[in-house]
Amino acid sequence: MTTTFSSAVGQPLARIEGPAKVTGAALYAAEYPVDGLAYAWVVQSPIARGTLNAVVVDPTTEDNDVIAVLWHGNAPRLEPADDPELDVLQSEHISYRGQAIALVVARTLEAARRAAQVLDLDLTEEPHDSLLTADHPELYTPEKVNPSFPAVTDTGEFEAAYAAAPVTVDVTYETPALHNNPMEPHATTAVWEGDSLVLYDSNQHPPGVAAAVGKVFGLSADRVHVITEHVGGGFGSKGTARPNAVLAALAAKVVGRPVKLALPRQAMFSMVGHRTPTIQRLRLGAQTDGTLTAIGHDAVEQTSRLFEFAEQTTVATRHMYAAANRHTGHRLVRLDMPTPRWMRAPGEAPGMAGLECALDELAEKLGQDPVEFRIRNEPAAEPETGKPFTSRNYVACLREGATRFGWADRDPRPRARREGQWWIGTGVAGATYPTMAQPSTARARRLGDGRFEVAIAATDLGTGARTILTQIAADALGAPAEAVTLRIGDSTLPMASVAGGSSGSASWGWAVTGACTELRGSGRDEAFFDSTELVQQQEKDGKHAYGAHFAEVRVDADTGEVRVSRLLGVYAVGKVLNPRTARSQFIGGMTMGMGMALHEEGVLDPAMGDWVNHDLAEYHVPVHADIESIEATWIEEEDTTVNPMGSKGIGEIGIVGSPAAIVNAVWHATGVRVRDLPVRLDKLL
Ligand code: MOS
Repeated sequence: MTTTFSSAVGQPLARIEGPAKVTGAALYAAEYPVDGLAYAWVVQSPIARGTLNAVVVDPTTEDNDVIAVLWHGNAPRLEPADDPELDVLQSEHISYRGQAIALVVARTLEAARRAAQVLDLDLTEEPHDSLLTADHPELYTPEKVNPSFPAVTDTGEFEAAYAAAPVTVDVTYETPALHNNPMEPHATTAVWEGDSLVLYDSNQHPPGVAAAVGKVFGLSADRVHVITEHVGGGFGSKGTARPNAVLAALAAKVVGRPVKLALPRQAMFSMVGHRTPTIQRLRLGAQTDGTLTAIGHDAVEQTSRLFEFAEQTTVATRHMYAAANRHTGHRLVRLDMPTPRWMRAPGEAPGMAGLECALDELAEKLGQDPVEFRIRNEPAAEPETGKPFTSRNYVACLREGATRFGWADRDPRPRARREGQWWIGTGVAGATYPTMAQPSTARARRLGDGRFEVAIAATDLGTGARTILTQIAADALGAPAEAVTLRIGDSTLPMASVAGGSSGSASWGWAVTGACTELRGSGRDEAFFDSTELVQQQEKDGKHAYGAHFAEVRVDADTGEVRVSRLLGVYAVGKVLNPRTARSQFIGGMTMGMGMALHEEGVLDPAMGDWVNHDLAEYHVPVHADIESIEATWIEEEDTTVNPMGSKGIGEIGIVGSPAAIVNAVWHATGVRVRDLPVRLDKLL
């Protein structure tokens, strides 16, 4: 397509790597042709807690294709990792069912898998605890929640204000364990070159993976070369090095040849993190005119015995609505389960499901329209900090959404609209996501003939990051996008932050803008830019993206089947850098929100200490047949303070609030408040 100078940003440029992907030319981590490759298969613990005493039968004696069987009894010692999940094959102790306890390396994938399946393990099983309950005796308050928020906040006098409020709700919402299922499973191809290590690895942060893997092998990060050219989705589960990266490198070292380890889908349900289940108590108090006076939000969630990950479930409640009195908190329990991790909008996604459903219940009690009720409680400044918002157009999103959706004609009564077999209902919920940026560096080079190369160790998870950075670079260079070759996906390129927290475009774009602006202004052939100082000088508070979700559902009067007839998202996210890839991010998030509302659920078997559904046949995600009308749009918003592009993160906000809009619509259709997600049909009958 033709782009004019100085306006590549804002154009609906198609993904630059699109043709390479659809023709199969794009290589993913498990696809690199490497000479002498051996294949690894992970042996996962069949017990939730105990010890692996020995691997009794050694299949290497029985199968010529098996090269090695590694376990803690024979694996080389590693340096301790910052993340104990990476201390693989180092201890006899088993911390959860599904943990990697041995690794078979073979000349063929089939031989590795077969040997892994027949391996005879001498195990001692101990009693385990895998069930999260609101009154678990070992609940504790963590020091902070992800990434570094206080676990508990109080402003005003919540308890007194709540007790005095004339209209209140006190409700408990529960969300289940959820599992990241990027299309491309986690995979690593590890190649040792002398004392240096090359990893073809699927991840969201090549420099971070290089540092983490380097640490356990006692190598500086520059001796580990992580190549991550293409990634088929991550959603947070590839944000840090996962055990597959260390296992592949360990195996390659032992067998003296390159090793590939691609996790099967089933292994991802325990080895790459999950979203913690939550039990959320919401206590909301209002005056009879609908003014919120007390907002209380307490979350109970789980972490593992290995590592504390505390999801920030109630953090969005700290700044979403005005109220003089507020309490938010988090409590955790360590269970014999895998360590929970990031999954698209950790914190905001489950927390806003609870808050926005509880608000709907309060609006009903008050006899107020749920859109107007939210607008009435719009804060003038960030409620807990008192800091001004750099920009906040939540009300505009609600109003624009209400107009587009046809909200004005809504009959507020539940179970009032029936069309043939179907009860029909509509619902609304707010969305927010923090606007962040992290330090990054970039390099720009003049190649001659009006061409440029821009390099940064960023990753494109399929989001369009490579394309957007090209657009940003082009504008900063005063060149057409076609003149820019962007190099990413390689840990040896200038250091970049993680593709996470919806901060990639802002963080990397900042560094790219800096390097390209410097190159353009100088006569030199190369420029380098480090955004660290600028980013660290920034005010952190008051920066958020907003949105509003509207849903229409129909519920089968006999079977309880829920169909989402319409789903609309309206966002205020600063400058939209590329409307084509932005729309994909929004509707992708909304689709995942639909999964959270209706389909996705890790079903726990407390006796076994594991979820029973470990594949996409039994862990349901929305598919094309589930989507009818889905629409994402945005309002013009200018915010020049957040970063040089004026953009806010968009990767995660689509999953925030969309579940609540659907759950609220289900109530409006049926009169049934389902307070434990997902809304399965049996809960409606
Ligand atoms: Mo996203 S959960 O911050 O990778």
